[in-house]
Amino acid sequence: MTESIIVTGGAGFIGSNFILQWLAQESASIVNLDCLTYAGNAANLASLSANPRYEFVRGDINDRALVRRLFHAHQPAAVVHFAAESHVDRSILGPDEFIRTNINGTFALLSEAKQYWESLDLGAKQRFRFLHVSTDEVYGSLGENDAPFCETTAYAPNSPYAASKAASDHLVRAYFHTYGLPVLTTNCSNNYGPFQFPEKLIPLVILNAIKGEPLPVYGDGKNVRDWLYVGDHCAAIRRVLHDGRAGGTYNVGGRSEQPNLEVVGTICAMLDELCPDSPSKPHQNLIRFVKDRPGHDRRYAIDPRKIEHELGWQPHETFASGIRKTVEWYLANQAWVNDVTSGSYREWIDTQYASRPSSSKGSV
Ligand code: NAD
Ligand code: TYD
Repeated sequence: MTESIIVTGGAGFIGSNFILQWLAQESASIVNLDCLTYAGNAANLASLSANPRYEFVRGDINDRALVRRLFHAHQPAAVVHFAAESHVDRSILGPDEFIRTNINGTFALLSEAKQYWESLDLGAKQRFRFLHVSTDEVYGSLGENDAPFCETTAYAPNSPYAASKAASDHLVRAYFHTYGLPVLTTNCSNNYGPFQFPEKLIPLVILNAIKGEPLPVYGDGKNVRDWLYVGDHCAAIRRVLHDGRAGGTYNVGGRSEQPNLEVVGTICAMLDELCPDSPSKPHQNLIRFVKDRPGHDRRYAIDPRKIEHELGWQPHETFASGIRKTVEWYLANQAWVNDVTSGSYREWIDTQYASRPSSSKGSV
Protein backbone atom coordinates (compact mmCIF):
# COMPACT_ATOMS: atom_id res chain seq x y z
CA MET A 1 0.00 0.00 0.00
CA THR A 2 1.34 3.50 -0.82
CA GLU A 3 1.68 5.77 2.16
CA SER A 4 -1.31 7.99 2.90
CA ILE A 5 -2.36 10.71 5.30
CA ILE A 6 -5.82 11.70 6.48
CA VAL A 7 -6.68 15.39 6.20
CA THR A 8 -9.79 16.70 7.96
CA GLY A 9 -11.55 19.84 6.74
CA GLY A 10 -9.68 19.71 3.44
CA ALA A 11 -12.51 21.33 1.47
CA GLY A 12 -12.16 24.58 3.44
CA PHE A 13 -9.87 27.51 2.76
CA ILE A 14 -6.55 26.39 4.25
CA GLY A 15 -7.23 22.66 3.84
CA SER A 16 -7.79 22.89 0.10
CA ASN A 17 -4.64 25.00 -0.37
CA PHE A 18 -2.77 22.42 1.74
CA ILE A 19 -4.01 19.46 -0.30
CA LEU A 20 -3.11 21.11 -3.62
CA GLN A 21 0.36 21.97 -2.32
CA TRP A 22 0.88 18.54 -0.76
CA LEU A 23 -0.01 16.59 -3.90
CA ALA A 24 2.30 18.81 -5.95
CA GLN A 25 5.26 18.43 -3.56
CA GLU A 26 4.93 15.18 -1.62
CA SER A 27 4.51 11.51 -2.47
CA ALA A 28 1.92 10.27 0.06
CA SER A 29 -1.76 10.04 -0.92
CA ILE A 30 -4.50 12.02 0.79
CA VAL A 31 -7.88 11.00 2.16
CA ASN A 32 -9.89 14.17 2.78
CA LEU A 33 -12.63 13.85 5.42
CA ASP A 34 -14.95 16.85 5.30
CA CYS A 35 -18.68 17.14 6.00
CA LEU A 36 -19.01 20.24 3.73
CA THR A 37 -20.48 22.88 5.99
CA TYR A 38 -21.23 26.28 4.42
CA ALA A 39 -17.43 26.85 4.48
CA GLY A 40 -16.51 23.63 2.69
CA ASN A 41 -16.46 23.54 -1.08
CA ALA A 42 -15.52 20.35 -2.92
CA ALA A 43 -15.15 22.46 -6.09
CA ASN A 44 -11.93 23.90 -4.62
CA LEU A 45 -10.38 20.52 -5.41
CA ALA A 46 -12.12 19.83 -8.72
CA SER A 47 -8.71 19.76 -10.43
CA LEU A 48 -7.94 16.56 -8.49
CA SER A 49 -10.97 14.57 -9.67
CA ALA A 50 -8.82 12.22 -11.77
CA ASN A 51 -5.88 12.11 -9.37
CA PRO A 52 -5.43 8.54 -8.05
CA ARG A 53 -3.63 9.92 -4.96
CA TYR A 54 -6.67 11.87 -3.77
CA GLU A 55 -9.89 10.58 -2.22
CA PHE A 56 -12.73 12.67 -0.84
CA VAL A 57 -14.96 11.27 1.91
CA ARG A 58 -17.97 13.31 2.92
CA GLY A 59 -18.42 12.85 6.65
CA ASP A 60 -18.25 14.34 10.12
CA ILE A 61 -15.24 14.06 12.42
CA ASN A 62 -17.76 13.30 15.19
CA ASP A 63 -18.80 10.11 13.37
CA ARG A 64 -16.48 7.77 15.23
CA ALA A 65 -17.51 4.65 13.33
CA LEU A 66 -16.63 6.36 10.04
CA VAL A 67 -13.34 7.72 11.39
CA ARG A 68 -12.45 4.23 12.69
CA ARG A 69 -13.19 2.69 9.28
CA LEU A 70 -10.98 5.26 7.57
CA PHE A 71 -8.06 4.55 9.91
CA HIS A 72 -8.49 0.83 9.39
CA ALA A 73 -8.83 1.00 5.59
CA HIS A 74 -6.04 3.51 4.88
CA GLN A 75 -3.51 2.88 7.68
CA PRO A 76 -2.43 6.53 7.53
CA ALA A 77 1.05 7.70 8.50
CA ALA A 78 -0.42 10.94 9.83
CA VAL A 79 -3.53 13.00 10.44
CA VAL A 80 -3.56 16.72 9.60
CA HIS A 81 -6.55 18.17 11.41
CA PHE A 82 -8.02 21.36 9.90
CA ALA A 83 -11.74 20.67 10.37
CA ALA A 84 -13.30 23.40 12.49
CA GLU A 85 -15.81 26.15 12.68
CA SER A 86 -13.49 29.06 12.07
CA HIS A 87 -15.27 32.43 12.01
CA VAL A 88 -15.25 34.58 15.16
CA ASP A 89 -18.39 36.54 14.18
CA ARG A 90 -20.36 33.32 13.66
CA SER A 91 -19.14 32.05 17.04
CA ILE A 92 -20.61 35.18 18.64
CA LEU A 93 -24.00 34.74 16.98
CA GLY A 94 -24.13 30.94 17.52
CA PRO A 95 -21.41 29.16 19.49
CA ASP A 96 -23.00 25.67 19.62
CA GLU A 97 -21.44 24.31 16.42
CA PHE A 98 -18.04 25.55 17.62
CA ILE A 99 -18.28 23.39 20.70
CA ARG A 100 -19.55 20.40 18.72
CA THR A 101 -16.90 20.43 16.01
CA ASN A 102 -13.89 22.12 17.56
CA ILE A 103 -14.04 20.46 20.98
CA ASN A 104 -16.13 17.28 20.69
CA GLY A 105 -14.96 16.62 17.13
CA THR A 106 -11.29 16.97 18.04
CA PHE A 107 -11.85 14.69 21.01
CA ALA A 108 -13.53 12.06 18.79
CA LEU A 109 -10.66 12.24 16.30
CA LEU A 110 -8.01 11.99 19.02
CA SER A 111 -9.74 9.00 20.60
CA GLU A 112 -9.91 7.13 17.30
CA ALA A 113 -6.34 8.12 16.40
CA LYS A 114 -5.11 6.79 19.75
CA GLN A 115 -6.89 3.47 19.27
CA TYR A 116 -5.44 3.11 15.77
CA TRP A 117 -1.95 4.19 16.87
CA GLU A 118 -1.91 1.63 19.68
CA SER A 119 -2.57 -1.10 17.12
CA LEU A 120 0.51 -0.23 15.02
CA ASP A 121 3.86 -2.03 15.09
CA LEU A 122 6.74 -0.23 16.80
CA GLY A 123 8.20 1.39 13.65
CA ALA A 124 4.85 2.70 12.40
CA LYS A 125 3.99 3.81 15.91
CA GLN A 126 7.15 5.90 16.12
CA ARG A 127 6.55 7.47 12.71
CA PHE A 128 2.85 8.33 13.21
CA ARG A 129 1.92 11.99 13.78
CA PHE A 130 -1.32 13.79 14.67
CA LEU A 131 -0.94 17.42 13.58
CA HIS A 132 -3.50 19.81 15.02
CA VAL A 133 -3.91 23.11 13.14
CA SER A 134 -4.69 25.89 15.58
CA THR A 135 -4.69 29.64 15.88
CA ASP A 136 -2.91 32.53 17.61
CA GLU A 137 -6.32 33.64 18.96
CA VAL A 138 -5.97 31.19 21.86
CA TYR A 139 -3.49 33.63 23.45
CA GLY A 140 -5.99 36.49 23.71
CA SER A 141 -5.29 40.15 23.03
CA LEU A 142 -2.02 42.12 23.19
CA GLY A 143 -1.48 45.73 24.21
CA GLU A 144 0.28 48.07 21.82
CA ASN A 145 3.71 47.55 23.37
CA ASP A 146 3.43 43.91 24.48
CA ALA A 147 5.87 41.33 23.13
CA PRO A 148 4.40 39.04 20.44
CA PHE A 149 2.94 35.64 21.39
CA CYS A 150 5.49 32.86 21.80
CA GLU A 151 4.90 29.16 22.47
CA THR A 152 5.00 29.69 26.25
CA THR A 153 2.52 32.59 26.35
CA ALA A 154 -0.38 31.71 28.69
CA TYR A 155 -3.69 30.91 27.00
CA ALA A 156 -6.38 33.61 27.44
CA PRO A 157 -9.02 33.07 24.74
CA ASN A 158 -11.69 35.78 24.46
CA SER A 159 -14.22 34.69 21.82
CA PRO A 160 -16.23 31.46 21.75
CA TYR A 161 -14.19 30.51 18.66
CA ALA A 162 -10.87 31.09 20.44
CA ALA A 163 -12.11 29.29 23.57
CA SER A 164 -13.17 26.25 21.55
CA LYS A 165 -9.79 26.13 19.80
CA ALA A 166 -7.99 26.54 23.14
CA ALA A 167 -9.97 23.59 24.53
CA SER A 168 -9.02 21.47 21.53
CA ASP A 169 -5.34 22.44 21.93
CA HIS A 170 -5.48 21.32 25.57
CA LEU A 171 -7.00 17.97 24.61
CA VAL A 172 -4.26 17.44 22.02
CA ARG A 173 -1.62 18.26 24.62
CA ALA A 174 -3.22 15.88 27.13
CA TYR A 175 -3.20 13.00 24.64
CA PHE A 176 0.58 13.41 24.34
CA HIS A 177 1.29 13.75 28.04
CA THR A 178 -1.11 11.04 29.20
CA TYR A 179 -1.03 8.45 26.41
CA GLY A 180 2.11 9.33 24.44
CA LEU A 181 0.18 9.94 21.20
CA PRO A 182 2.74 11.74 19.00
CA VAL A 183 0.98 15.05 18.42
CA LEU A 184 2.10 18.37 16.97
CA THR A 185 0.28 21.70 17.24
CA THR A 186 0.67 24.80 15.07
CA ASN A 187 -0.72 28.17 16.19
CA CYS A 188 -0.88 30.44 13.19
CA SER A 189 -1.86 34.05 12.61
CA ASN A 190 -4.52 35.30 10.14
CA ASN A 191 -4.28 33.66 6.72
CA TYR A 192 -5.31 35.11 3.38
CA GLY A 193 -5.16 33.87 -0.21
CA PRO A 194 -7.16 31.90 -2.80
CA PHE A 195 -10.34 30.02 -1.82
CA GLN A 196 -11.02 31.99 1.37
CA PHE A 197 -14.74 32.20 2.05
CA PRO A 198 -15.80 35.86 1.70
CA GLU A 199 -17.04 36.32 5.26
CA LYS A 200 -13.50 37.08 6.50
CA LEU A 201 -12.02 40.55 6.21
CA ILE A 202 -9.76 40.30 3.16
CA PRO A 203 -12.00 38.44 0.68
CA LEU A 204 -15.07 40.38 1.90
CA VAL A 205 -13.35 43.69 1.22
CA ILE A 206 -12.02 42.60 -2.19
CA LEU A 207 -15.44 41.38 -3.37
CA ASN A 208 -17.43 44.31 -1.96
CA ALA A 209 -14.99 46.77 -3.51
CA ILE A 210 -15.22 45.08 -6.92
CA LYS A 211 -19.03 45.42 -6.72
CA GLY A 212 -18.87 49.02 -5.46
CA GLU A 213 -20.48 48.03 -2.13
CA PRO A 214 -19.58 49.43 1.34
CA LEU A 215 -16.42 48.16 3.03
CA PRO A 216 -17.37 47.59 6.71
CA VAL A 217 -14.55 48.39 9.13
CA TYR A 218 -15.29 47.48 12.77
CA GLY A 219 -14.76 50.11 15.47
CA ASP A 220 -11.92 52.54 14.75
CA GLY A 221 -10.16 50.19 12.31
CA LYS A 222 -7.04 50.18 14.47
CA ASN A 223 -7.23 46.53 15.59
CA VAL A 224 -4.01 44.83 14.55
CA ARG A 225 -3.59 41.38 13.02
CA ASP A 226 -0.53 39.53 11.75
CA TRP A 227 -1.14 38.32 8.18
CA LEU A 228 0.36 35.24 6.51
CA TYR A 229 -0.15 34.08 2.92
CA VAL A 230 -1.91 30.71 3.00
CA GLY A 231 0.75 28.92 0.91
CA ASP A 232 3.36 29.85 3.53
CA HIS A 233 1.16 28.44 6.29
CA CYS A 234 0.76 25.18 4.34
CA ALA A 235 4.54 24.96 3.87
CA ALA A 236 5.00 25.51 7.62
CA ILE A 237 2.58 22.66 8.41
CA ARG A 238 4.56 20.36 6.11
CA ARG A 239 7.83 21.35 7.81
CA VAL A 240 6.35 20.69 11.26
CA LEU A 241 4.85 17.38 10.16
CA HIS A 242 8.19 16.14 8.81
CA ASP A 243 10.60 17.45 11.43
CA GLY A 244 8.66 18.84 14.39
CA ARG A 245 9.33 17.34 17.81
CA ALA A 246 6.47 15.09 18.96
CA GLY A 247 4.51 16.92 21.65
CA GLY A 248 5.80 20.26 20.35
CA THR A 249 3.87 23.42 19.55
CA TYR A 250 4.97 25.88 16.86
CA ASN A 251 3.84 29.47 16.38
CA VAL A 252 3.57 30.45 12.71
CA GLY A 253 3.38 34.07 11.57
CA GLY A 254 4.33 36.44 8.83
CA ARG A 255 6.06 39.25 10.79
CA SER A 256 3.42 41.38 9.12
CA GLU A 257 1.39 43.21 11.75
CA GLN A 258 -1.05 45.76 10.37
CA PRO A 259 -4.09 47.72 11.53
CA ASN A 260 -7.25 46.65 9.68
CA LEU A 261 -7.67 50.07 8.11
CA GLU A 262 -4.24 49.79 6.50
CA VAL A 263 -5.09 46.36 5.07
CA VAL A 264 -8.34 47.71 3.62
CA GLY A 265 -6.51 50.77 2.21
CA THR A 266 -3.92 48.54 0.50
CA ILE A 267 -6.66 46.48 -1.16
CA CYS A 268 -8.42 49.67 -2.32
CA ALA A 269 -5.22 51.06 -3.83
CA MET A 270 -4.52 47.77 -5.58
CA LEU A 271 -8.00 47.69 -7.11
CA ASP A 272 -7.59 51.31 -8.26
CA GLU A 273 -4.52 50.11 -10.14
CA LEU A 274 -5.87 46.77 -11.45
CA CYS A 275 -9.34 48.10 -12.40
CA PRO A 276 -8.54 51.57 -13.78
CA ASP A 277 -11.98 51.90 -15.43
CA SER A 278 -13.97 51.04 -12.30
CA PRO A 279 -16.76 53.55 -11.52
CA SER A 280 -15.96 52.96 -7.81
CA LYS A 281 -12.52 54.59 -8.04
CA PRO A 282 -11.09 55.61 -5.64
CA HIS A 283 -12.27 52.47 -3.80
CA GLN A 284 -11.19 54.03 -0.49
CA ASN A 285 -14.41 56.09 -0.61
CA LEU A 286 -16.39 52.87 -0.03
CA ILE A 287 -14.99 52.46 3.51
CA ARG A 288 -17.63 52.65 6.28
CA PHE A 289 -16.91 52.44 9.99
CA VAL A 290 -19.47 50.13 11.60
CA LYS A 291 -20.35 49.03 15.12
CA ASP A 292 -17.50 47.09 16.72
CA ARG A 293 -17.45 43.32 17.29
CA PRO A 294 -18.26 42.47 20.94
CA GLY A 295 -15.08 41.53 22.82
CA HIS A 296 -12.97 42.46 19.77
CA ASP A 297 -9.32 41.52 20.44
CA ARG A 298 -7.15 44.59 19.91
CA ARG A 299 -3.90 43.09 18.69
CA TYR A 300 -2.37 39.75 17.69
CA ALA A 301 1.31 39.30 16.92
CA ILE A 302 3.43 36.18 16.55
CA ASP A 303 7.03 35.50 17.46
CA PRO A 304 7.97 32.86 14.84
CA ARG A 305 11.58 32.35 15.96
CA LYS A 306 11.07 28.75 17.14
CA ILE A 307 9.88 27.41 13.77
CA GLU A 308 12.46 29.55 11.97
CA HIS A 309 15.40 28.33 14.06
CA GLU A 310 14.36 24.74 14.78
CA LEU A 311 12.87 23.86 11.41
CA GLY A 312 14.30 26.45 9.01
CA TRP A 313 10.88 27.68 7.88
CA GLN A 314 10.53 31.19 6.44
CA PRO A 315 7.58 32.73 4.59
CA HIS A 316 8.16 33.32 0.86
CA GLU A 317 5.56 36.03 0.40
CA THR A 318 5.63 39.52 1.85
CA PHE A 319 2.23 41.09 2.52
CA ALA A 320 2.71 43.21 -0.61
CA SER A 321 3.35 40.21 -2.88
CA GLY A 322 0.74 37.97 -1.20
CA ILE A 323 -2.08 40.50 -1.29
CA ARG A 324 -1.40 41.21 -4.98
CA LYS A 325 -1.66 37.49 -5.80
CA THR A 326 -4.85 37.29 -3.74
CA VAL A 327 -6.60 40.28 -5.33
CA GLU A 328 -5.62 38.98 -8.79
CA TRP A 329 -6.98 35.52 -7.90
CA TYR A 330 -10.39 36.90 -6.87
CA LEU A 331 -10.55 39.04 -10.02
CA ALA A 332 -9.72 35.99 -12.18
CA ASN A 333 -12.08 33.55 -10.46
CA GLN A 334 -15.51 35.12 -10.75
CA ALA A 335 -17.18 31.74 -11.33
CA TRP A 336 -15.91 30.48 -7.95
CA VAL A 337 -17.03 33.72 -6.33
CA ASN A 338 -20.52 33.54 -7.87
CA ASP A 339 -20.83 29.95 -6.74
CA VAL A 340 -19.99 30.60 -3.06
CA THR A 341 -21.86 33.89 -2.77
CA SER A 342 -25.22 32.51 -3.87
CA GLY A 343 -27.91 31.18 -1.50
CA SER A 344 -27.22 31.22 2.23
CA TYR A 345 -24.25 33.58 1.89
CA ARG A 346 -26.60 36.54 1.31
CA GLU A 347 -28.58 35.63 4.43
CA TRP A 348 -25.40 35.67 6.53
CA ILE A 349 -24.31 39.06 5.18
CA ASP A 350 -27.79 40.52 5.80
CA THR A 351 -27.96 39.22 9.40
CA GLN A 352 -24.38 40.09 10.26
CA TYR A 353 -24.33 43.65 8.93
CA ALA A 354 -27.96 44.58 9.73
CA SER A 355 -26.87 44.91 13.37
CA ARG A 356 -23.91 47.10 12.39
CA PRO A 357 -25.08 50.51 11.25
CA SER A 358 -22.37 52.83 9.91
CA SER A 359 -21.04 55.11 12.64
CA SER A 360 -19.27 57.45 10.23
CA LYS A 361 -19.01 57.71 6.51
CA GLY A 362 -16.57 57.77 3.73
CA SER A 363 -13.10 59.02 3.30
CA VAL A 364 -10.20 58.12 5.52
P1 NAD B 1 -12.75 26.96 6.95
O1 NAD B 1 -13.91 27.38 7.78
O2 NAD B 1 -12.52 27.62 5.63
O3 NAD B 1 -12.83 25.38 6.67
C1 NAD B 1 -13.22 24.45 7.64
C2 NAD B 1 -13.51 23.14 6.93
O4 NAD B 1 -13.85 22.17 7.94
C3 NAD B 1 -14.70 23.21 5.96
O5 NAD B 1 -14.37 22.56 4.76
C4 NAD B 1 -15.81 22.47 6.70
O6 NAD B 1 -16.72 21.84 5.82
C5 NAD B 1 -15.00 21.46 7.52
N1 NAD B 1 -15.73 21.01 8.71
C6 NAD B 1 -16.35 21.79 9.65
N2 NAD B 1 -16.92 21.03 10.59
C7 NAD B 1 -16.64 19.75 10.27
C8 NAD B 1 -16.94 18.49 10.88
N3 NAD B 1 -17.66 18.42 12.01
N4 NAD B 1 -16.49 17.36 10.28
C9 NAD B 1 -15.79 17.43 9.12
N5 NAD B 1 -15.49 18.58 8.50
C10 NAD B 1 -15.89 19.72 9.07
O7 NAD B 1 -11.49 27.12 7.90
P2 NAD B 1 -10.00 27.53 7.53
O8 NAD B 1 -9.88 29.01 7.54
O9 NAD B 1 -9.54 26.76 6.35
O10 NAD B 1 -9.24 27.02 8.84
C11 NAD B 1 -8.76 25.67 8.93
C12 NAD B 1 -8.15 25.44 10.30
O11 NAD B 1 -7.09 26.37 10.50
C13 NAD B 1 -9.14 25.66 11.45
O12 NAD B 1 -8.89 24.67 12.42
C14 NAD B 1 -8.78 27.04 11.98
O13 NAD B 1 -9.06 27.14 13.36
C15 NAD B 1 -7.29 27.09 11.71
N6 NAD B 1 -6.73 28.44 11.49
C16 NAD B 1 -7.30 29.28 10.58
C17 NAD B 1 -6.73 30.54 10.37
C18 NAD B 1 -7.32 31.49 9.34
O14 NAD B 1 -6.85 32.65 9.25
N7 NAD B 1 -8.27 31.08 8.51
C19 NAD B 1 -5.60 30.92 11.07
C20 NAD B 1 -5.04 30.03 12.00
C21 NAD B 1 -5.61 28.77 12.19
P1 TYD C 1 -11.56 38.19 10.46
O1 TYD C 1 -11.15 38.05 9.03
O2 TYD C 1 -12.95 37.85 10.84
O3 TYD C 1 -10.49 37.36 11.32
P2 TYD C 1 -10.26 37.30 12.94
O4 TYD C 1 -11.43 37.89 13.62
O5 TYD C 1 -10.15 35.84 13.14
O6 TYD C 1 -8.99 38.04 13.19
O7 TYD C 1 -11.28 39.69 10.91
C1 TYD C 1 -10.00 40.27 10.80
C2 TYD C 1 -10.07 41.64 11.43
O8 TYD C 1 -10.92 42.47 10.63
C3 TYD C 1 -10.69 41.64 12.82
O9 TYD C 1 -10.02 42.61 13.62
C4 TYD C 1 -12.13 42.03 12.59
C5 TYD C 1 -12.04 42.95 11.38
N1 TYD C 1 -13.22 42.95 10.47
C6 TYD C 1 -13.75 44.19 10.06
O10 TYD C 1 -13.28 45.27 10.44
N2 TYD C 1 -14.82 44.16 9.19
C7 TYD C 1 -15.38 43.01 8.75
O11 TYD C 1 -16.40 43.05 7.98
C8 TYD C 1 -14.81 41.76 9.16
C9 TYD C 1 -15.39 40.45 8.71
C10 TYD C 1 -13.72 41.79 10.04
